[in-house]
Amino acid sequence: MSGSILITGASQVLTLRGGPRRGNSLSNLGIVKDGAVLVRDGKIVAVGPRAQVDRRAEAKSAEKFDVGGRVVLPGFVDSHTHLIHAASRAEEYELKIQGASYEEIARKGGGVLNSVKKLRAATEQALKQRAASALGEFAAHGTTTLEAKSGYGLDVASELKILTLHKELNTEQPLEIVSTFLGAHVVPAEFRGKADGAEKYLDLLMEKLLPEVVVRDLAEYCDVFCDRGAFTVRQSRKLLAKAKDHGLAPRLHAEQLSRTGATQLAVDLGAASCDHLEHVNDSDIRSLAKSKTVATLLPGCDFHLGLKEYAPARKLIEAGAIVALATDYNPGTSPTMSMPMVLSLACDQLRMTPAEAIAAATINGAAALGREKTIGSLAEGKQADLAAFEVEDYREIPYYFGMNLCWMTMKRGEIVCMKD
Ligand code: NIG
Ligand code: FE
Repeated sequence: MSGSILITGASQVLTLRGGPRRGNSLSNLGIVKDGAVLVRDGKIVAVGPRAQVDRRAEAKSAEKFDVGGRVVLPGFVDSHTHLIHAASRAEEYELKIQGASYEEIARKGGGVLNSVKKLRAATEQALKQRAASALGEFAAHGTTTLEAKSGYGLDVASELKILTLHKELNTEQPLEIVSTFLGAHVVPAEFRGKADGAEKYLDLLMEKLLPEVVVRDLAEYCDVFCDRGAFTVRQSRKLLAKAKDHGLAPRLHAEQLSRTGATQLAVDLGAASCDHLEHVNDSDIRSLAKSKTVATLLPGCDFHLGLKEYAPARKLIEAGAIVALATDYNPGTSPTMSMPMVLSLACDQLRMTPAEAIAAATINGAAALGREKTIGSLAEGKQADLAAFEVEDYREIPYYFGMNLCWMTMKRGEIVCMKD
């Protein structure tokens, strides 16, 4: 579409006006009944009650787009995914169902290393095709921006291959991809079995790979999987400090399998987010609450792994942390591209209300990516990134679980997918 577009006929427009949410404000969706959104050149020109938006001269000449009583909300900002990988790990899924734990499988060479083997053997073309089809699914479920991490290459050529694909895909399809360097996902097989293998691998990351990532402008963030079986707090600090010197902002996988102190490290480094948090303690929660580091919860992981212990979302919200939700789309712990499914899990398992879950998946997800000023809410001057859902009341989005009720997704004012 070119020129102005006037979106009308929404039973509810969830504006999410205002900045990132903490505590009680997480429930504030800024709902406008019978709302309208006026869009020009990919940006929002006006949003509010229909009668008010209609009074603008531009609204009269704009192309009309009636969403037929559906709910309009900002496109989801999925701030944690491992987009590029070569294949599923359905064989490990079956082993897990039969009783093997995630860590047992990883110790036997499965887990991340299984995906690394497959990625190194895959062609760029095959990886790109798989990612492009996943991006289509993200868009079809209402996501308009997503973060993507490397981390299944773990050698110089393969990590650069993944990050280059992020860059290419960013220009070849409509969704925005925010690229993160996760060379420190786990220690690759060829560095294992020696006492200083992890240190040698970190040296390779810091001396060779990181400068290359920076020179080629392939990532905005650097992440580390700081946990049992991956990297220690000391190692994570060393790499993230170096990455920060190179201009890559830090984020962390923290307290997923065990409590390591990674949350405190994230806060100390001023990380954009720290993610997972199943094993945080009260002092971690207090630190997050006092910081701007976003606490990103990934309930898809615990669901897929069949775990009973989810992150303490209520405690985090009540303490005042900025809580976000993301899919963690990856082949080992969370094979889903569906933010609506994540909202259902957040409500049913994390005991977040539908309103809290939606705010966590939009404006707070945008904050986790440092983009709260441009996306994550429907407000004048922001990007026209939005979705319309086949429901009359926003609470029905998480209520109908495991279904895709997204009817239309718009990115920068362009419709990128729409059901018949
Ligand atoms: O976010 N925790 C580390 N990384 C992923 C899992 C990766 C995998 O198993 O392939 C996660 O859960
Ligand atoms: Fe992850």
